[in-house]
Amino acid sequence: MKNYLHQKYDLSDPKIVSAFDEMPLWSSYFGAVLLDTVIYKNKARILDIGCGAGYPMLELAQRFGADSEVTGIDPWKAATARLKAKAKIMGVNNIRIINGVAENIPTEDNYFDLIVSNNGLNNCSDQMKVLSECYRTMKKDGQLVFTVNLPGSMKEFYSLFRQILTDQKLNDSAAKMELHIKEKRKTLQENLRQVRKNRFTVKRIIEQSFYMKYLNGTAFLNHYFIKIAFLDSWVKIVPQNKRGMIFKLLEEKLNQYSQSKGELRITIPFVCIDCRKSG
Ligand SMILES: C[S@@+](CC[C@H](N)C(=O)[O-])C[C@H]1O[C@@H](n2cnc3c(N)ncnc32)[C@H](O)[C@@H]1O
Repeated sequence: MKNYLHQKYDLSDPKIVSAFDEMPLWSSYFGAVLLDTVIYKNKARILDIGCGAGYPMLELAQRFGADSEVTGIDPWKAATARLKAKAKIMGVNNIRIINGVAENIPTEDNYFDLIVSNNGLNNCSDQMKVLSECYRTMKKDGQLVFTVNLPGSMKEFYSLFRQILTDQKLNDSAAKMELHIKEKRKTLQENLRQVRKNRFTVKRIIEQSFYMKYLNGTAFLNHYFIKIAFLDSWVKIVPQNKRGMIFKLLEEKLNQYSQSKGELRITIPFVCIDCRKSG
């Protein structure tokens, strides 16, 4: 397979450049640990749950080589359309995409050698059902590797948000915020309980943390990724008629905090869980 000797890429072609932006920066922190944890095997059949716009799916398809088969499952059609477009530009052909939910994987039993999910499993509405589908569709001795962020994520932000909601006597909103954190970020123990309940053996637990720095709260709240991935769920915590006032206060508090610290540092603890189907 020496096709690479004859391929030419025109770096002034906007299409080629468009696929140069391979992944969301956010996903890269988790994905780097995931890519390090998977066991590389010949002719592997791989599933990426919540493949989104193609990371780490397209990376896996290339790292495992053309003899592997990498399936991605995600209900987000606009993202998988982008994945397909990138795959075409990159010349990655060993992929298939399922536009659906991982609670029902339309695949026969004992099929996959490796199932991964980079911050995807925790976004599925029924993680237990997804894990039972992983077990069913995975071959014996197959590997499941997934990353999830942990309850302490963005603790600097949530601590100020909590304080403002409490000061303003918005107790229902404060309770909603705690529920939102609990639903979005399961503890390590809860994740382990769920994989074990689904008969997986846990081989390795890699806990890490990264941080993202911003000038201040204004920069943070106006950041494109924060706006598309988080802001809507934060806004919904607050009653409609109080949103303007609460977010003004929140931005001011975040700005004061940033000024006192010299920056706004937002911490993201996460875990990469490496399991096997041993039964
Ligand atoms: C945080 S994104 C992660 C995307 C990608 N893995 C990455 O690292 O950039 C979570 C993904 O899970 C997908 N998702 C949500 N519910 C799902 C479900 N029930 N089954 C499969 N994917 C789902 C979302 O559409 C989204 O693409």
